[in-house]
Amino acid sequence: MKIHSIILLLSSYILILNIPVYLCARPPNWGCLSLVSPKMQQNYTIGSTFQSNLQQLLAGLPQKATQNNYFYNATYGEAPDQVYGLIMCYADTSTAACDSCMSEASLGIMECCALNKNGVAWYNECMIRYSDVAVNATNNIGLMGCGPKVLDSKPESLAEPKKFRDILRQLFDGLATNASRSPLRLGAGKMNYTPSANIYALAQCTRQLPSDECRMCIGNLTDLGVEYCTGDKAVQADETLMTISCYARFALKPFYVISDAHPPWPNSSITLSLSFFL
Ligand SMILES: *[C@@H]1O[C@H](CO)[C@@H](O)[C@H](O)[C@H]1NC(C)=O
Ligand SMILES: *[C@@H]1O[C@H](CO)[C@@H](O)[C@H](O)[C@H]1NC(C)=O
Ligand SMILES: *[C@@H]1O[C@H](CO)[C@@H](O)[C@H](O)[C@H]1NC(C)=O
Ligand SMILES: *[C@@H]1O[C@H](CO)[C@@H](O)[C@H](O)[C@H]1NC(C)=O
Ligand SMILES: *[C@@H]1O[C@H](CO)[C@@H](O)[C@H](O)[C@H]1NC(C)=O
Ligand SMILES: *[C@@H]1O[C@H](CO)[C@@H](O)[C@H](O)[C@H]1NC(C)=O
Repeated sequence: MKIHSIILLLSSYILILNIPVYLCARPPNWGCLSLVSPKMQQNYTIGSTFQSNLQQLLAGLPQKATQNNYFYNATYGEAPDQVYGLIMCYADTSTAACDSCMSEASLGIMECCALNKNGVAWYNECMIRYSDVAVNATNNIGLMGCGPKVLDSKPESLAEPKKFRDILRQLFDGLATNASRSPLRLGAGKMNYTPSANIYALAQCTRQLPSDECRMCIGNLTDLGVEYCTGDKAVQADETLMTISCYARFALKPFYVISDAHPPWPNSSITLSLSFFL
């Protein structure tokens, strides 16, 4: 993921790094961030039990997630080498693209976060993280990033940028509530921006978050995203916002969503169905 803004929320101030960040060199467009500052970074050693536990954990995540509506959190091994991790496919992705993203992520994060005991990698279609400490239920809004869904797309100018942001805030506010109440921690909807134009949006939390933490994660992420990731005169026609525990997208055109709002296909083994979100 080529991220155009990374925002770090420290206790009393917000630091915005408005530079393109290529967090990792390997294509296609993905990155790795340590969950702790470089100075405090704890490394594992090659050949250690921790490394082997990490490999086992990561290798198992994609398949388990596919059988669990595209999310899984897990742990592997015993203290002091116990490893925790989770994987989530974004709901605006086809199941085939989810499977392919998750496979790549489970191998890629080890390469990209080499020797780091904590890491998170954001891909275009999924995210993965692991740690030597339990992935707890807090929303971890300490860091967020945003970037266009389609790499290098041009921002679109808006006749009424203030109105656009007001409507977008309202839309995300409703979606934060809906996602926090949904078992899949997923909400998607649209609102009129002008009589002839809609804003479409999606919000999704990692599923282990309790309802209130999910609501707060989406609220915090989208408050910041609307403020810092939409321009004064123009917006990306299709923008994604991401943090460690939730994900959001807004666009001026409808997009595909794996939805829990529809009954499953009769011959499908998963309880989700694919639907076109309009
Ligand atoms: C961990 O490894 C990185 C990359 O090799 C290195 O820069 C860093 O100093 C190491 N940290 C510790 C605590 O050993
Ligand atoms: C997954 O997350 C939930 C909620 O935090 C937790 O209760 C559960 O133990 C976790 N599962 C694993 C295998 O870590
Ligand atoms: C959850 O994890 C974060 C990051 O590791 C940590 O700062 C926080 O204290 C933890 N919260 C709880 C309730 O354990
Ligand atoms: C939230 O869910 C309710 C009930 O399904 C629905 O009427 C409403 O439109 C949803 N909100 C958004 C912003 O999509
Ligand atoms: C996150 O949202 C909560 C509840 O609205 C608010 O109290 C908190 O200050 C927000 N945190 C950040 C970092 O914006
Ligand atoms: C369901 O069955 C139809 C017709 O047999 C087939 O075309 C489709 O691929 C099946 N879908 C799944 C998810 O297996």
